[in-house]
Amino acid sequence: MSDTQLSSELLPQHIAIIMDGNGRWAKQQGKPRLYGHRVAVKAVRETISAASRLGIKAVTLFAFSSENWKRPEEEVGLLMDLFMMVLTREVKKLHKNNLKLNIVGDKSRFSTSLQKKIADAEYLTQSNTGLVVNVAANYGGKWDITQAVKQLAISIEKKQFTSEEITEESISQYLCMSDLPDVDLMIRTSGECRISNFMLWQMAYAELYFTDLYWPEFNEQALLEAVSWFINRERRFGCTSEQLQSLMNHK
Ligand code: IPE
Ligand code: IPE
Ligand code: MG
Repeated sequence: MSDTQLSSELLPQHIAIIMDGNGRWAKQQGKPRLYGHRVAVKAVRETISAASRLGIKAVTLFAFSSENWKRPEEEVGLLMDLFMMVLTREVKKLHKNNLKLNIVGDKSRFSTSLQKKIADAEYLTQSNTGLVVNVAANYGGKWDITQAVKQLAISIEKKQFTSEEITEESISQYLCMSDLPDVDLMIRTSGECRISNFMLWQMAYAELYFTDLYWPEFNEQALLEAVSWFINRERRFGCTSEQLQSLMNHK
């Protein structure tokens, strides 16, 4: 059925990606870990572009977890510098392509200059109507649920809410990305099969896709393979990545 036109309704609306394996990929090339993180930016660019052309609603990329502060200080510092550089360099392009950028996570631990960069980037792109790109930075699924519960507790203290009124919906409202549909498809690269404290609540029913590719090797073709795997799992028919390609608008 390769010539059958696919309907875009079959696509996952929200894809979450754990971009893992930069360090191992760099090591395989005989290079320092930072080299892997640098080349990772290219994979991010390609993934965002492909998701946008495919007409996906939102992509959430795990860039730095709340546990990643435990890495050697030098690596953390280099990752922060890279984050700053990417924000400086790439935001105009995202804006030109009508993409909406959000940084999700506890931003208070970042330097003042990085927080300012983040706020400016979010402000610039906030009215855009294309693909929503969430970058999870200093994010943890347990942190997210904790901060939501804290906000609920505050509204109970202020008597705006009662404990009897707590429902899954009211908790969801306070979680990060509450304005987006839950994750349909979660992709993790590098062969590791764990969630590593990513979006625990929002991934309750996600299809989980694991690939042995290291993140710096990930590209448009790899995304299309993951999405066709998703469609085949959900709808049980033989969709191919070529059919997906025909859905993409090639700019
Ligand atoms: C993912 O690659 C990037 C971040 C967590 C920042 P890693 O740095 O975890 O690479 P590996 O897993 O050590 O190969
Ligand atoms: C998960 O990768 C976090 C990100 C991709 C940012 P890690 O490489 O930090 O995960 P663990 O520690 O191996 O589970
Ligand atoms: Mg890793």
